[in-house]
Amino acid sequence: MTDQPSRRAALDEPLILGIETSCDETGVGIVRGHTLLADAIASSVDLHARFGGVVPEVASRAHLEALVPTMHRALSTAGVTLADIDAIAVTAGPGLAGALLVGVAGAKGYALAADKPIYGVNHLAAHVAVDTLEHGPLPEPAIALLVSGGHSSLLRVDNLANGVVPLGATIDDAAGEAFDKVARVLGLPFPGGPPIDKTARDGNGSAIAFPRGLTGPRDQAEHRFDFSFSGLKTAVARWVEARQRAGEPVPVHDVAASFQEAVCDVLTAKAIEACRDSGISTLVIGGGVAANSRIRSMAAERAERYGITVRVPRPGLCTDNGAMVAALGSHLVAAGVAASPLDLPADSAMPLTLVSV
Ligand code: KG4
Ligand code: ZN
Repeated sequence: MTDQPSRRAALDEPLILGIETSCDETGVGIVRGHTLLADAIASSVDLHARFGGVVPEVASRAHLEALVPTMHRALSTAGVTLADIDAIAVTAGPGLAGALLVGVAGAKGYALAADKPIYGVNHLAAHVAVDTLEHGPLPEPAIALLVSGGHSSLLRVDNLANGVVPLGATIDDAAGEAFDKVARVLGLPFPGGPPIDKTARDGNGSAIAFPRGLTGPRDQAEHRFDFSFSGLKTAVARWVEARQRAGEPVPVHDVAASFQEAVCDVLTAKAIEACRDSGISTLVIGGGVAANSRIRSMAAERAERYGITVRVPRPGLCTDNGAMVAALGSHLVAAGVAASPLDLPADSAMPLTLVSV
């Protein structure tokens, strides 16, 4: 991983505000160029915990309540007013339709009231762009591994402002979804990533040989860069059930560590293979699962062997936030991309090939 370069915001760089409401985090970030000035977040995760997953209508209402206060908090932290902002970026998709609508409608209101250009941007591309706030401009081409609660994809990034090329994706559960479901099996709280990460620290990752989906010789042809975590999740559940049926204690630390090892093994192996296959020496990892301590260490170890540079933002920037949306907005403005029309739609299934609408 590279060190954070010391950088000072040049005052002539545009000041961009980003709004994120695609899931359960209401985020408002403000950046100037690649410099992060504010990253205000209000999370509704506690409201969803007892359901074991995000409840869309509950998330939408929470965004509605949190958007204006989060906006004020971000402006105050950055020490600027809405009038100072040069452009507003907002997550237009993919995500929960009702949740996206709150952010898009709010952003339109602010853009109209303050007469600012608006950019409706892709949430997944924003997970890639956020790394620029920590490590500076992304060398292109780069390979991006995007691993969140809703997506797991390997992408080739030739020019982030124009779109990304999907190389592969999960054919069933997303990596974060697998963490959330396995946590449930182990009696750990939602969202499952952080508690599994923590529990695994006291466990042995080689204790149980859980399956590595789509890594067999036959998968090379059709699914070389695809992922599958549903079989792994089922294997963990069956293993735990068998122990319980036999009246034996479940070694939660070892199960968590072995499950985490299987996920990180497949993700990092395929990401490095994609880099080597295309002769690309930069790998950027983004999305909530990129906050995982094991994926970070394993990617760094494996990449070093092949002279590949791994860029992973700090954990707080991996999970959903407004700064990532502002970072992508800033990238688009710098690249001279035209703003979106004021009647831009929220698109819950926005394709990865579309970076802004
Ligand atoms: O990117 P994100 O905040 O939201 C989506 O766009 O989905 O990702 C949330 C996902 C959840 O499934 C959560 O369990 C997972 O990221 N996650 C982690 C960790 N922190 C969050 N997974 C593994 N290890 C972590 N430390
Ligand atoms: Zn996300």
